[in-house]
Amino acid sequence: MNSGRFITLEGTEGAGKSTAAAAIADWIRQRGIELLITREPGGTELGEKLRALLLAPAIDAPVPKAELLMMFAARVQHIERVIQPALDQGKWVLCDRFTDASFAYQGGGRGLGAQSIEVIEQWAHPDLQPDLTLLFDLPVDQGLKRAARRSGPDRFEQEKLDFFSAVRDAYHQRMQRHPTRIKRVDASMNETDVLSQAKLMLEPLFVD
Ligand SMILES: Nc1ncnc2c1ncn2[C@@H]1O[C@H](COP(=O)(O)OP(=O)(O)OP(=O)(O)O)[C@@H](O)[C@H]1O
Ligand SMILES: [Mg+2]
Repeated sequence: MNSGRFITLEGTEGAGKSTAAAAIADWIRQRGIELLITREPGGTELGEKLRALLLAPAIDAPVPKAELLMMFAARVQHIERVIQPALDQGKWVLCDRFTDASFAYQGGGRGLGAQSIEVIEQWAHPDLQPDLTLLFDLPVDQGLKRAARRSGPDRFEQEKLDFFSAVRDAYHQRMQRHPTRIKRVDASMNETDVLSQAKLMLEPLFVD
């Protein structure tokens, strides 16, 4: 039996992750592979409630450590209830954001650093890492413009450019640290070209 693959999509706001996710899912399913598409924070009833709390602009917004722990609370629920069972059944899982996003947003953007997140990661999911992560990379102002055309700003999108620059830098650091797993997609290109890049990077996963 073909064993499952765990693929994650990362990148700053409006980079085109969710747009590409739908197209990538179609493309993988066309090969006769059973694939689950999901997102973080979210993917479970509890996770979606935490997502709403995390994204809604709030006066009593979560402090950075609370934000990090809420992300991981949603994540472990998602892993144990949805992601791991699907992988165990041989399904492929495509997840819009995962733990690299915590390193980027809470580690980089919020300034918590990578070390504390590594400790939590080791405890929360010691045995699960994506087989492949596509990092949708583009200048933050371009992404924010795209995101602004889509909808009003959520709590993260209300942050200043400095925040997103720190997030992008932290994503680049993740890529340097995990060059085999994390592949960069030039997200400034049009949707067709972005998808072509993604397909090239996904191709090796189809080899047993
Ligand atoms: N390659 C592209 N070129 C131009 N516009 C794009 C491209 N990909 C997506 N878009 C548009 O940009 C907007 C943001 O795209 P999308 O929602 O896929 O980004 P995202 O990375 O999922 O953002 P977020 O991090 O906020 O979830 C959408 O309106 C989408 O139609
Ligand atoms: Mg999205």
